[in-house]
Amino acid sequence: MNTLSQPDQTTQLFDQIADQLVERGYFLAEKALPASLCLALQQRIQALDDEDFKRAGIGREQEHQLNKRVRTDQIRWLTRQDPIEAEYLAQMEILRLGINRRLFMGLFDAEFHFAHYPEGAFYKRHLDAFRGNTNRVLSVVFYLNDDWQEDQGGELLLYAEEQTPGEETPLLKRVLPESGTLAIFLSDQFPHEVLPTRRDRYSIAGWFRVNNTLGDQLDPPR
Ligand code: OGA
Ligand code: MN
Repeated sequence: MNTLSQPDQTTQLFDQIADQLVERGYFLAEKALPASLCLALQQRIQALDDEDFKRAGIGREQEHQLNKRVRTDQIRWLTRQDPIEAEYLAQMEILRLGINRRLFMGLFDAEFHFAHYPEGAFYKRHLDAFRGNTNRVLSVVFYLNDDWQEDQGGELLLYAEEQTPGEETPLLKRVLPESGTLAIFLSDQFPHEVLPTRRDRYSIAGWFRVNNTLGDQLDPPR
């Protein structure tokens, strides 16, 4: 399968990602990263305390009440202090540069967080970016759960590109959050949601961003 670990396979994977992004705006693959990195990330996320995670927010602080109706996951941003987190960030950096080289997307930087969805947690249908209002361009989600079963909920549902904002659109993909699965999609085009999970669900979500110096919108506060 594809892995980012060996140069020629990396090249192949990047070509596939670039092709899919051009063709349909999203990319999905199983076993996308080396199993060893996947295992190390699983161990890392398990080693973190509950206190390390904080409830994820959307938008501004005063919207916090609304947040709880929209999403109930907990997040912790990755840093380069930890070697395993640093390795994931390094792989994503290679990916960012690979995509830029192929698609001239001008991806400028990136941000990634671990996410923990405890039993019952969900994230209602949303877009990660609104046209013209953010510098998040590509969403990248990587899953860290062994043996996910169809009846355990927690799937990522990816919907077709919105024509009119807020409009219901057909379901494109149903993604099980299985270890090694990678999902990449254009942040301002694909509405998506996380169905309520019936077991602890772990992932890394992140974004490649452009340097939108003309924009006057702040990113959501951390
Ligand atoms: C997000 C998100 C999807 C997932 O964090 O914005 O949509 O499958 N995550 O975890
Ligand atoms: Mn999202």
